[in-house]
Amino acid sequence: MIIAVDGPTASGKGTIAKALSAHFGLPHLDTGLLYRAVGRQCFLDGGNPDDGGDALAATSFPDTLLSDPELRSEASGGLASRVSIHPAVRQALFERQRSFALQPAGAVLDGRDIGTVIAPDADVKLFVTASVAARARRRFLEMQGQGREVSLDEIAADLAARDARDTQRKDAPLVAAADARVLDTSELGREEAIAAAISLASTRA
Ligand code: DC
Repeated sequence: MIIAVDGPTASGKGTIAKALSAHFGLPHLDTGLLYRAVGRQCFLDGGNPDDGGDALAATSFPDTLLSDPELRSEASGGLASRVSIHPAVRQALFERQRSFALQPAGAVLDGRDIGTVIAPDADVKLFVTASVAARARRRFLEMQGQGREVSLDEIAADLAARDARDTQRKDAPLVAAADARVLDTSELGREEAIAAAISLASTRA
């Protein structure tokens, strides 16, 4: 069984994908991490993430980079969003994601274009979303919990900018697949969101 989980930044899709992976006993791939690694590698190389050539060169990042905690930072997320607009970068990462999806046991993948491009044949497609206000509030509490000084307004502006870039790019923009089930987590707590996702996935599985 292939489960595709797509959605914008801080929608809860990562948490939901991990929970589905545990519930159904399937391997999980956070595809955003691949784009973050490209963005980070491009930065380490002194390249320009907006340049297609520089970004493509960074797709040969070493696997060890995937466990670098720096990839989780907002800065790496912003770089990822910029390198991800280049079709050659998306092409270079395609095979790795596709073969993960095609493992005999099945898989859960989360990202932006799993249900539309990477695994249009997925058995279950969830599009996890939430209002900008709800997502900003979550990110704010998470960062505060890490003892960081942050402003709610800045976070909301950052999210909106990332949404705009992810949804407006020409190649594989963030959009719900026609056959995806939409799960709006704005009003849901973590456990409620997970339960709702399991229930949606179970009725399709
Ligand atoms: O899910 P995330 O925040 O880690 O993703 C970071 C960026 O990577 C996101 O803004 C756009 C890009 N991305 C993508 O284009 N396609 C994916 N399947 C996953 C992420």
